Amino acid sequence: MGYIILEPGTEDELEKYFNLRYEILRKPWNQPMSSTKDEWEDKSIHVLMVDENNEAVACGRLQLNPNEEGQIRSMAVRDDMQGKGLGTKIIEYIEAKAMELKLKNITLDARINAVKFYEKNGYVIVGESYLLFGVIPHFKMEKILE
Ligand SMILES: CC(C)(COP(=O)(O)OP(=O)(O)OC[C@H]1O[C@@H](n2cnc3c(N)ncnc32)[C@H](O)[C@@H]1OP(=O)(O)O)[C@@H](O)C(=O)NCCC(=O)NCCS
Repeated sequence: MGYIILEPGTEDELEKYFNLRYEILRKPWNQPMSSTKDEWEDKSIHVLMVDENNEAVACGRLQLNPNEEGQIRSMAVRDDMQGKGLGTKIIEYIEAKAMELKLKNITLDARINAVKFYEKNGYVIVGESYLLFGVIPHFKMEKILE
């Protein structure tokens, strides 16, 4: 596989990263580009996967919460690349980073369509969460790190 995982830093990498988040997580629900970023960007480690043509194919971020807790957010894989294991590679990168930082657990709010994906990666449902855009139920999930 000619895929590379990087932490976006250049203007070009950051643009590709935020565009992918927007395209997959916001645009289908007619949300504005401005809704893509939140107040936690500076407290997060951003992860982007590009293909051999340097096109963005997958991304995610590890938000650093208080009390040595990590939170996975903004997980997105390009439509035509879903179900090929790329999302799992992003999770593995994020978890390795979390271990390196000695975080105790990783929490996340999973869209209902993504619950199975996180379960396959060892996360368990710990409760119900919010309703996004009035239509997407979320479940709070967690994984304790060794
Ligand atoms: C959810 C998402 C990040 C998963 O990434 P992915 O690259 O498609 O997932 P993977 O190929 O790594 O899947 C790993 C496993 O989870 C399963 N899986 C993935 N998405 C699934 C889904 N929607 N329903 C059921 N199982 C799913 C896969 O079948 C695979 O299992 P296998 O190893 O037995 O084949 C990606 O599909 C996506 O961006 N979806 C749209 C946006 C979204 O919902 N993001 C999550 C917001 S919380």
